Amino acid sequence: MDSSPKTAIIGSGLIGCGWAVAFARGGCTAALFDANAEAAQQAKTTLTRLAEELEMAGMLDGQTAKDITDRVHIASDLDEALKDAVHVQENVPEKLDVKKAIFSELDIRAPRDAVLASSTSALLPSAFTEHLEGRARCLVAHPINPPSLIPAVEIVPAPWTSSSAMNRCADLMERIGQKPIRMQREIDGFIMNRLQGALLQEAFRLVAAGIATPEDVDTGLRDGLAPRWALLGPFETIDLNAPGGVRDYVARYGPMYEKIAETQRVNTDWTGETLDRIEEARREVLPLNQISKAQAERDSRLVQMMKHLRKHPKKS
Ligand SMILES: NC(=O)c1ccc[n+]([C@@H]2O[C@H](COP(=O)([O-])OP(=O)(O)OC[C@H]3O[C@@H](n4cnc5c(N)ncnc54)[C@H](O)[C@@H]3O)[C@@H](O)[C@H]2O)c1
Repeated sequence: MDSSPKTAIIGSGLIGCGWAVAFARGGCTAALFDANAEAAQQAKTTLTRLAEELEMAGMLDGQTAKDITDRVHIASDLDEALKDAVHVQENVPEKLDVKKAIFSELDIRAPRDAVLASSTSALLPSAFTEHLEGRARCLVAHPINPPSLIPAVEIVPAPWTSSSAMNRCADLMERIGQKPIRMQREIDGFIMNRLQGALLQEAFRLVAAGIATPEDVDTGLRDGLAPRWALLGPFETIDLNAPGGVRDYVARYGPMYEKIAETQRVNTDWTGETLDRIEEARREVLPLNQISKAQAERDSRLVQMMKHLRKHPKKS
């Protein structure tokens, strides 16, 4: 692959800017295009902020924030952004008709061998690429916000996506330091939102049944399971939680989980009185007008945690 592959980032909101920084930090050049000229100008401020935060945390592998922003170019039109791109990352609003329209444009105007990747959170790639001549090079590369800080990215094929497009996308993601998850086929929620959804179902269920308060659920996660989950996935966790590994764990605790699962078959209503209780509990500790302050605090603590994890990578 090229020593400094060119990427095109389409849509320069939160996710587009995060991708631009992630690609530029990984040695790519990135041309950013937004249909709204004001948003494109605003992107310069967002990019600089994201790159400076990473520099301050020592997470730029010896590069400066300026090295990163110098590799990002704000393109004045779509063709300029797409010129010579080997990878196109689309980040326009989450609406099916908007995704369909932009993918039609991209398929006509991007270099023939470029991979066309969408950041969509919830649309299946088959829903907006079926009509395209070049549909074999289209896929989803779904990040967690912001991709400049969080490495996992789900690479999701439509039924017609070629393995070459999947490989090229995964290789590029690895090269820039992301952690690609290569899915075998598309499914609603991909992997991470399915896992999160299962957990939220149970969280709502416990509150709805009056077994736990919203704070109790958050404490159980934040101060119980999550510290370990920042280091290990669920299979790694159970493999280390029985002397004989995962099989031993299942022999010891499988029946307990089967009994629990019997009580989890029916979905919980996320609205009505349960939601009232959760909202009341949240607003008591965090008034609505303090949400942006709390988001900023979360982001700065997240940077510190990711810095620590990057400094102490897993050895086995
Ligand atoms: N925000 C998140 O936490 C998150 C996480 C993962 C994935 N995503 C996905 O990423 C995508 C972008 O999300 P976001 O939060 O950055 O949205 P956003 O609203 O912040 O940004 C979208 C940008 O796209 C621009 N745009 C609209 N139409 C365009 C077009 N035709 N060509 C070029 N630019 C166009 C808009 O002007 C805007 O600046 C969505 O599909 C979303 O589901 C979001």
